[in-house]
Amino acid sequence: MAGLVDTNAMTDRAVDALLRLSPRPDAVIVSGDIAEHGQPGDYAVARRLFERLPMPVYAVPGNHDRREAMRAAFSDRAYLPSSGPLNFVIDAPPLRLIGLDSLVENQGHGVLSAETLAFVERTLTSSNRPAMIFVHHPPFDCGIAHMDRIRLIEGASELEQILSRHNQVQRVVTGHVHRPALVRFGGTLCQIAPSVAHQVALDLNPNGPPCFNLEPPAFLLHRWDDDIGLVTHMAYVDQATGPFDF
Ligand SMILES: [Fe+2]
Repeated sequence: MAGLVDTNAMTDRAVDALLRLSPRPDAVIVSGDIAEHGQPGDYAVARRLFERLPMPVYAVPGNHDRREAMRAAFSDRAYLPSSGPLNFVIDAPPLRLIGLDSLVENQGHGVLSAETLAFVERTLTSSNRPAMIFVHHPPFDCGIAHMDRIRLIEGASELEQILSRHNQVQRVVTGHVHRPALVRFGGTLCQIAPSVAHQVALDLNPNGPPCFNLEPPAFLLHRWDDDIGLVTHMAYVDQATGPFDF
C-alpha cells in the first residue's frame, strides 16, 4: 500500500532510539536496502539520517540498492572497496565485522558470487578473531513463502560449508525479511533482523500473499562479553511506558 510507511521518518526514529541507548553502541550496521530505487538522491537522504550518529555506520547492499551509486555515496567512509563486490572487513577489536554483497541488480533475490565466497574464505583464514558476518539476503527458508522465493538462492550452501570450517563466526546477520528469525547455520547462528520500518506479516502458509504490517519497529543490539561471547538483544524503536521499579 503506497504511502502508508514513511521509511525516512521511521529511520529517523530508529536513530533517535540508538542515541538514547546507554552505553551507546560502538558501531551501527545497516543490513541493506538503504535506498528504494538505488538513486544518488536516496543515498544523500540516508547519509543525512546516518550523520546524526556519532559512531561509525557500515552498510551492506540490499536488492533495492545499486552497487555503483552506493559505492560512490559512501566513498569518503573508506570501508567499501573501489571496485568489485561491496564486500568489506572492519577490524573492531575484539570483533571483526564482515560485510558481504549479495546484490543482483534489478532482482529481488540474492547471490553470493565466487569472488565473494573466496573473500569470506580468505578473510576467515587470515584471523581467528571472533567475527560477525552481515549479508542482506538470508541463506535459509524462513517459511514465509514470498520472501523465501527471493532469499539467497546461490552461494548459501557454499557459505554454510565455509562457516563449518571456521568456528570463530559468532553470528550471520541478515535483513530483507523485515521480521526476526533465527536458525542454526554452518555451526553458528544465522539471525534475520527485524525492520526499523514496516514488518513482513507472519504468514507461514505456502500460498500466503505478500503482506506487511505495522508491528513495532525494532533492531538488534549485539553485546560482546569476553567470557560468553556475543549476546543479541532485540530492541524496540519506540519508547514503552516505564520503566517501573519492581
Ligand atoms: Fe531486501
